[in-house]
Amino acid sequence: MTDSITVTDNRTGEAVEIPIVDGGISAGELRKLLPGVWFYDPAFMTTALASSSVTYLDGDGGILRYRGYPIEQLAERSSYLEVAYLLVHGELPNAEQLRTWTEDIRMHTYLHDNFRKRFLDGFHYDAHPMGMLVSGIAALSTFYPEAKDVVDPQVRHRQIIRMIAKVPTLAAACHRYSAGMPFVYPDNGLSFTENFLSMMWKVAEPRYEPDPVLAHALDVLFILHADHEQNCGTLAMRTVGSAHADPYIAASAAAAALSGPRHGGANEQVLRMLSQIGHVDNVDAFISDVKAGKGKLMGFGHRVYKNYDPRAKIVKQTADAVFEVTGRNPLLDIALKLEEAALSDEYFVSRKLYPNVDFYSGLIYQAMGFPTGMFTVLFAIPRVAGWLTHWQEMIDQDSKIYRPRQLYVGADRRDYLPLEQRK
Ligand code: SDX
Repeated sequence: MTDSITVTDNRTGEAVEIPIVDGGISAGELRKLLPGVWFYDPAFMTTALASSSVTYLDGDGGILRYRGYPIEQLAERSSYLEVAYLLVHGELPNAEQLRTWTEDIRMHTYLHDNFRKRFLDGFHYDAHPMGMLVSGIAALSTFYPEAKDVVDPQVRHRQIIRMIAKVPTLAAACHRYSAGMPFVYPDNGLSFTENFLSMMWKVAEPRYEPDPVLAHALDVLFILHADHEQNCGTLAMRTVGSAHADPYIAASAAAAALSGPRHGGANEQVLRMLSQIGHVDNVDAFISDVKAGKGKLMGFGHRVYKNYDPRAKIVKQTADAVFEVTGRNPLLDIALKLEEAALSDEYFVSRKLYPNVDFYSGLIYQAMGFPTGMFTVLFAIPRVAGWLTHWQEMIDQDSKIYRPRQLYVGADRRDYLPLEQRK
């Protein structure tokens, strides 16, 4: 038996055999047999938009690997910056490569001072940090016009360094503005994640002293969120990038997609859901409401994972270390009861709904003192590495501009009707 399919057009009797390669079949081959007939696949439920060597997901097996390395090993033994290097370059760095990469990032953490003096001041006092971040990432493109030369590898690499380095600074600045606190400049004597914590929390002390347990826990969370194959935000990055718009503009589109409650915005909604439930005694009633179609169990379900999201397991383990320092988040008991109730309920089991990465992460962020509005910003910071990696891969593949077709089901041709003749 050959790894192929044969498709017959019953109108003509013509047939075409198409090989199954890397788990897919070429739609182009089918187009030869069926010109003008399109694959109807709303929300791309069964469509592979590209071949990629970045991240491997096995939804049934609950497997996630970055460039072949299991997420469990990276979370336990690597750092976010090393993982960002792995994603962007495809290989783990040697000592010299890691040193250079770390130094390059360190040297690009500053923002143009107009962000502090003018840009952020334009926002309302209670502006949502994600709206500020999306705008700020797009605004970065106006400071680096060279970035439009997307086909030059050196230019691309400089923007990759800049964006990985500057987004944490921008993210912290958005928080400081929302909190009415003065902007904190990067402290390049700290690690990537420690520096972000310093820019978030430094007040009057001469130098911010990050708690090593919390800094490590956040670095692990950054590793877990760094990439996830062709998710909605990454699709936005690839789509805008396929028009050869600059990477800052493309990344702002990716961040905009991520902000949606069905996507990265879910971690914020989980906390609101847990607070709304309020007590473990209310869990059963909440579950009944969800089963009756009165809302979703936020942080549950996934388009790909039909098993436990491997990241959620690691987040749950990380929570224990954090709560040792911060004290246990009382909402954890409600989350645990929700998980227990859902995983033993036919409604969720039959639909293969398990906790995803967003279900427990917000509990950690809240325990660390982050305001709920910053939760999706904390998702975006590390995901910048994944967006840029896929953007770079798409450009290197010399991808055409993304322009899907449609099935037209609207009105046939009709003539313009003067106003007085309309009903
Ligand atoms: C992320 O793609 C990625 O990789 C994303 C991400 C990444 O790292 O980039 O992993 C990050 O976005 C994680 C997902 C965070 N979102 C949430 O937690 C929001 C709650 N989840 C749902 O909105 C939903 O599960 C989605 C959006 C995540 C997935 O939706 P699908 O694949 O379109 O599935 P569906 O909506 O068709 O659901 C299938 C069934 C439906 O029931 P029926 O119509 O068959 O009766 O399951 C039900 C849904 O109503 N369902 C849920 C549910 N999720 C799906 N019911 C209750 N609660 C839920 N959370």
